[in-house]
Amino acid sequence: MAFEKVGVVGLGTMGAGIAEVFARAGIRVIGVEADPEALARGRGHLERSTGRALDKGRLSAEERAAILGRITLTTAREDLADADLVVEAIPEILEYKIALFADLDRICKPDTVLATNTSSLSVTAVAAATGRPGRVIGMHFFNPAPVMKLVEVVGTVMTDEGLPERIAELSRALGKTPVVVGDRAGFVVNRLLLPYLNQAAMLLERGVAARDDVDTAMRKGVGLPMGPFALLDLIGLDTSYEVMGVLFDETRSPRHAPAPVLRELVTAGLLGRKSGRGFHGEEPAPDEPDK
Ligand code: 3HC
Repeated sequence: MAFEKVGVVGLGTMGAGIAEVFARAGIRVIGVEADPEALARGRGHLERSTGRALDKGRLSAEERAAILGRITLTTAREDLADADLVVEAIPEILEYKIALFADLDRICKPDTVLATNTSSLSVTAVAAATGRPGRVIGMHFFNPAPVMKLVEVVGTVMTDEGLPERIAELSRALGKTPVVVGDRAGFVVNRLLLPYLNQAAMLLERGVAARDDVDTAMRKGVGLPMGPFALLDLIGLDTSYEVMGVLFDETRSPRHAPAPVLRELVTAGLLGRKSGRGFHGEEPAPDEPDK
């Protein structure tokens, strides 16, 4: 079965980016949000992202209209009944995901593949909440989804044989590079990346170096496109804190204890770009002057 009609549940930064990726590849998308306000925010993400591509001359007005025209936005989950694939991109709270997957299992036709974009939670736990655990898989995109090339395809002990390769093939058709990985906290990228970002926050807490010096050091010394604090703000401090919590729960390693400053900023509602302020405020990150 080809993936001709794809549902995306949750149209925050990641979900909207994922919907755009499918629509750019010519696939029909049903984007679902919980209420009209969240749906309007999702529409805003899609319009801004494709509008930026239009302004830069990367898309013509016709191409942009065609991409947006392939995406139907709705608050009715029932509209996903005949989707071939549904990708979930709701907040990283396991209970919410389990409840959603149980509901998708009820709504969707039996052969619909259900995928989660979780950053680090157990795909196995989500699959076990359904009556089709063989057709549940992780499909983990990276932020910003329209730009970053990687997709981690996460299989579980219950995944149907051949499904990871089908999802890898789909990812290639989307212009992405897939890697197939096992269901362990953080998979590959976040298992390696988040402890590094967390250590940057620890250095700041201990007064070893100033925020902008840490960012500059990693950009100029290692050639990364963004320093760790700019990247934490891009990912979202809430997501970063949650991923560290999952790594810590699985490994019990002190190396994975979330930096207290992360918890402090999350508690204060300073979540990074999505809330307008995180480690950086409204001022440009030190990435900006070199551009
Ligand atoms: N949405 C859509 N497109 C975007 C975008 C966004 N949010 N941000 C940038 N772009 C596009 C631009 O339009 C531009 O496209 P073009 O080349 O076709 O004109 C291209 O990306 C480059 O953008 P800019 O020239 O404005 O800026 P940069 O060259 O500085 O690139 C960046 C921006 C791509 C964000 C780059 O800084 C980068 O790669 N940063 C690192 C990002 C990263 O590491 N992401 C992974 C995070 S981990 C994760 O997501 C896992 C999760 O589970 C936590």
